[in-house]
Parts: sequence; structure tokens; C-alpha cells
Amino acid sequence: LSTQPFFNYLHSRRSIRRFLPDPISEEVLWRVLEAATRSPSAHNRQPWRFTVLATQESRRRLADEMGLDFRNDLLSDGRSFDDVDRQVEKSRSRIIEAPAAVLLNLDLSEMDLYNDEKRQTAEYLMAVQSVAMAGGYLLLAAHAEGLGGVWICAPLFAKETVKRALLLPEEWEPQGLILLGFPAKVPASRPRRPLNEVVQLL
Ligand SMILES: Cc1cc2nc3c(=O)[nH]c(=O)nc-3n(C[C@H](O)[C@H](O)[C@H](O)COP(=O)(O)O)c2cc1C
Repeated sequence: LSTQPFFNYLHSRRSIRRFLPDPISEEVLWRVLEAATRSPSAHNRQPWRFTVLATQESRRRLADEMGLDFRNDLLSDGRSFDDVDRQVEKSRSRIIEAPAAVLLNLDLSEMDLYNDEKRQTAEYLMAVQSVAMAGGYLLLAAHAEGLGGVWICAPLFAKETVKRALLLPEEWEPQGLILLGFPAKVPASRPRRPLNEVVQLL
């Protein structure tokens, strides 16, 4: 792989939030999931678990249930009913109308166990980081397939609701949702902070 095409490919990825209605073939979806599992992970324990929401019915079930939690959270911020309804509906329809979605979950059962909080917290974070890396790989693989994707954080705010709505295995902890589909609109590149703001060179 020569570097320039690779960097062009990295730079051309966007978070895609509007999709064509075209379905994603199962073959492509599995290739993208397989690529996600090529990600590095702490102790190679691969704590990622994926729930593929290939049907609109499954996405609707998730969106409806998460929408109730989202609504309560927004109302508790003191927002107006109209404002809250509008925002909840936008989030709901985005999930339902995406051609596919992949819920990223964390399974801690094969991670190490410590009896002190400091190391246990570090171990937990390593597992979360590993799942996030798999999510990054998944987004990049989707881009390589000509698909677009966006990471939606909502499940992290409604873990128990998501587990119940999708009948997840008890050990699976929802982390994020990736919506996938062929892009209807590719937005302009979002700005990045200059390196001199984010790099400490010693
Ligand atoms: C952990 C995480 C959570 C995100 N949550 C959301 C979200 O809930 N809704 C959304 O529209 N985009 C979400 N995004 C996408 C970011 O907004 C997006 O990556 C960022 O604005 C940069 O744009 P780009 O991906 O097109 O370069 C999330 C991204 C990450 C990594």
C-alpha cells in the first residue's frame, strides 16, 4: 500500500448522517465486521460484541426505547416540550431510516479482574478503548466499501434500556451505535485543531 492513496482515503472519510435507501448486502456487512475484528485489543481479549440491526423493525425497537430515555433526559434539563419532541424525533428517524446499524458492545467477562479499584478501572478503560478501536476500524472499512457511517453515542446514555429492548446477553454493555448506508450527502471536511495545539514534543 503506498502512503499517499492511504492518506487520501483517511482524509476523505466523513461522518455520514444522510443515507440513500439502498440496502447493504450481507456480504459487504460481514466484510466490514470482519475488518473491525482486525483491530488491536488489550491482551488480544477482543472484548467487542456486535449487534447487527439489519431490519427496520429492530432499529425501530431500539430507537423507540432509547427515545423515551432521551426525552426524559432532555425534559429534566428544563427544555420545552416542543423542542424536546423535535430533537427526539430527529434522532429516532435517523436510526430507523439508516439502511443498517451496528451496536458496539463491551463484554468484560474475559478481561482480568483486580481487587483494587485503580487497576480495575484501568482494565475497564482498556476494554472500552479496545471496543472504540474496533468501531474506528469498522468506520474505516465501511468507507473502503463506499459506505458511510456515523457513530451515535445515545446507547451509552441508555445502557439498561438498550439491553432490555434488544435482549442483549447479560454481560454485554452497550457503548455506541454505528449507522451505515450509502451516502446521500457527503459533508465538507470538519476542521481539526492544528497539530501544535494537540502535540507535546519533548
Ligand atoms: C465517541 C463518538 C461519539 C459520537 N457521537 C455522535 C452522535 O451521537 N451523533 C452524531 O451525529 N455524531 C457523533 N459522532 C461523530 C462526530 O460528531 C464526528 O466524528 C466529528 O464531528 C468529526 O467529523 P468527521 O467524523 O466527519 O470527521 C461521534 C463520534 C465519536 C468518536
